Amino acid sequence: THDPYKIWLSEIILQQTRVDQGMDYYRKFVDKYKTIQELASAPEDEILKMWQGLGYYSRARNMHHTAKEIVEKYAGTFPSEYQDLLKLKGIGPYSAAAIASIAFEKPHPAIDGNVIRIITRIYGIATPVEDSKTTKLIKEIVTGLIQNQKPSVFNQAMMECGYISDGQ
Ligand code: ADE
Repeated sequence: THDPYKIWLSEIILQQTRVDQGMDYYRKFVDKYKTIQELASAPEDEILKMWQGLGYYSRARNMHHTAKEIVEKYAGTFPSEYQDLLKLKGIGPYSAAAIASIAFEKPHPAIDGNVIRIITRIYGIATPVEDSKTTKLIKEIVTGLIQNQKPSVFNQAMMECGYISDGQ
């Protein structure tokens, strides 16, 4: 899908949860709250109850907060710019890049542990990935790779590649 609401929802769930664990929750949420307006106007305790079992409840609270903000400040339309997405509660660099690329075809690489693993191996990077210099280099490499690609396909292919190589 290119629906930013659904992509955002899935990205929040997948922040600290594996795909196989998050799938049923994702389905439950999109089934109950078909639009961001419905999610925004839902009672917080109802959302927290639906979230039960996923853990890290701040994710659910931030999600509700952001739903309300998008309805009130953006008239229910998701912002399409990476920098605007980054300002929303619960959306960090990875999730902002995932939404900007998958929903809006913006060339921002979504870099997680799997992508770092793939890039360091292919490019023979042996310096610690904790070093800011290494992080910067990896970001430069992937930013270069995503140019002239279809960003939604590129990032999702990288995610799939990491997912498979992770043995899941
Ligand atoms: N983890 C976080 N976002 C993901 C995505 N879109 N696909 C698979 N795993 C993910």
